[in-house]
Amino acid sequence: MIADIDLGQGLRLRTLTTQDVDLVVEATGTETAPALWGPHPAGPYTPQDARLALNSWDPAAGRQTSYGMLKDDRLLGALGLMIDGPDTAELAYWVRPESRRQGLALRGINALTRWTHDELGLERVWLEIDPANTPSLRLADRAGYQYEQRIPHHCRTWTRPDPEHDTWHDCMIWAHTALREPPARG
Ligand SMILES: CC(C)(COP(=O)(O)OP(=O)(O)OC[C@H]1O[C@@H](n2cnc3c(N)ncnc32)[C@H](O)[C@@H]1OP(=O)(O)O)[C@@H](O)C(=O)NCCC(=O)NCCS
Repeated sequence: MIADIDLGQGLRLRTLTTQDVDLVVEATGTETAPALWGPHPAGPYTPQDARLALNSWDPAAGRQTSYGMLKDDRLLGALGLMIDGPDTAELAYWVRPESRRQGLALRGINALTRWTHDELGLERVWLEIDPANTPSLRLADRAGYQYEQRIPHHCRTWTRPDPEHDTWHDCMIWAHTALREPPARG
């Protein structure tokens, strides 16, 4: 789960660890909505929030890992990979508000999707998107993901701690499948 990828033009994509608390606090400082490392509520992370978040995304645990997009040691955005089967993982992404619409998410998703197929050997990478999240839906399409299905009341807003009293909304599932060489003809 350890990646360190040069994205060009001074941009680096690397695994975030529990040592990156200060980066997460600084990067989320102007956020008003949820960032990557759910289920933190909307808004900036305190050092305590960031510590808890990075602990639950600790690559050493091998369950879910977050990857930061860094320029000059500033965290501009992050992607999260959640392994959910022998051949599959869910991907999530977030770019800090003042760095949006500069092509960062697209560069990050393209690189991490390729790395997940090629280096981790996973067949399928998939996304869960709120139907109202037009930026994310367009991004998924631009990154070569295919729309699969809409699942009613499948995704949680995390506005309440108790799942029974929380709000649940529909989710759109998009997926990217590894390209395999066609079998040699007899
Ligand atoms: C979704 C998000 C990650 C996009 O990040 P970004 O770095 O701004 O995206 P990019 O600049 O790489 O955009 C790539 C493409 O995505 C689409 N896109 C991105 N933002 C868009 C917007 N606000 N409106 C419409 N399309 C948008 C466009 O097709 C864009 O290509 P274009 O600029 O050539 O038109 C960012 O808006 C974000 O962090 N949102 C909050 C968190 C979130 O919603 N995460 C997804 C949860 S499923």
